[in-house]
Amino acid sequence: MSPSPAPIPLFEPRLRGNEWRYVKDCLDTGWVSSVGAYVRRFEEETARRLGFQHAVAAVNGTSALHAALLVSGVGPGDEVILPSVTFIAPANAVRYVGAHPVLMDAEPDYFQIDVEKTLDFLKKECRWSRGALRNKSSGRRVRALMPVDVLGHPADVRPLREAAKKYGLLLLQDASESLGSRYRGGPTGRGADIACLSFNGNKLVTTGGGGMLLTDDAAWAAKARHLTTQAKTDPIEYIHDEVGYNYRLTNVLAALGLAQLEQLDGFVTRKRRAAARYAKALRGIQGLTPMREAPWARGTYWMYTIRVDEKRYGLDARTLLRRLARRGIMTRPIWQPLHLSKAHKGAQSYRCESAELLYREALSLPSSVALSDAQQDRIVTALRS
Ligand SMILES: Cc1ncc(COP(=O)(O)O)c(C=O)c1O
Repeated sequence: MSPSPAPIPLFEPRLRGNEWRYVKDCLDTGWVSSVGAYVRRFEEETARRLGFQHAVAAVNGTSALHAALLVSGVGPGDEVILPSVTFIAPANAVRYVGAHPVLMDAEPDYFQIDVEKTLDFLKKECRWSRGALRNKSSGRRVRALMPVDVLGHPADVRPLREAAKKYGLLLLQDASESLGSRYRGGPTGRGADIACLSFNGNKLVTTGGGGMLLTDDAAWAAKARHLTTQAKTDPIEYIHDEVGYNYRLTNVLAALGLAQLEQLDGFVTRKRRAAARYAKALRGIQGLTPMREAPWARGTYWMYTIRVDEKRYGLDARTLLRRLARRGIMTRPIWQPLHLSKAHKGAQSYRCESAELLYREALSLPSSVALSDAQQDRIVTALRS
């Protein structure tokens, strides 16, 4: 009997650049903690790539989002509009500051926040009162739009930016999944008041765990640095002027991040090539819809996600997931839409019809940077049969 082929993971990091060298440098010099040259270099290089003036590294993407809300002044009783189809972290961060998420539907083509419905909500469900935009049903002040670029594809933020300007809202973009992607010719996140990134182990650029906040606002950046280092006001004395957080990334992890960032363009090239191969192969399979790219986007296909139409394909997404798992191929459904999540029970949602359809039908296929043609062919053969 021939041995069964090696399992194909959903996503594996690729650490083949200067990672060892830079981390060894930290260990050799003893600069392992949150002060050190690599933190600064990682911040500067990320800011340069994304076209921001300032970057503040953090222990993870969730803490970067938390800090973004704190420094931009979103607080108790405020509302933040974000998509229902996303990993839960941005909605949790909204709750950390005592604000309320308002959960918006996704559009079904690219899985991103539905811009039309968002604009509709602002126009029809909110009104201007006492110098601010307020949600008619809750009476609360709407403070921010928080689009989340999901699955490595940018959200259509231009109309959201215009709406933010019109209604006096903040635009806080969660670009955790889209580093390396481009939106209307510029890097993802650019143009937001604050953009946040995650360098979690499953991200295209990883530090194992890490995150970053990017902004052009010098005062917000300074405040973020302050808050993420326990709000200490004196370099020697232990004096603090408010309740801060221990959120700063360590030099060792920043060293890893810098080495990873150096390889980002190559990663994106590989990912886009694999996406094109997936698309070509899947087009011939009835009932499977390949991942799409909007005309204004150049995505990274961070998680290559297809839709499975049960009637036409003959299997639903979750049965397919189990069958592929039996063949050693790891896939996963997308996140439970947040308006269905117990964690955000009671949060207002707006016309989340597509979100539920996507939740039923979406399946992310193996998406490692190093996915080989042979592995991909094995996946496609399994999907065909
Ligand atoms: C869209 C999004 N936002 C935020 C996060 C949170 O980042 P972290 O896990 O680094 O806290 C993640 C992923 O991990 C994410 O995918």
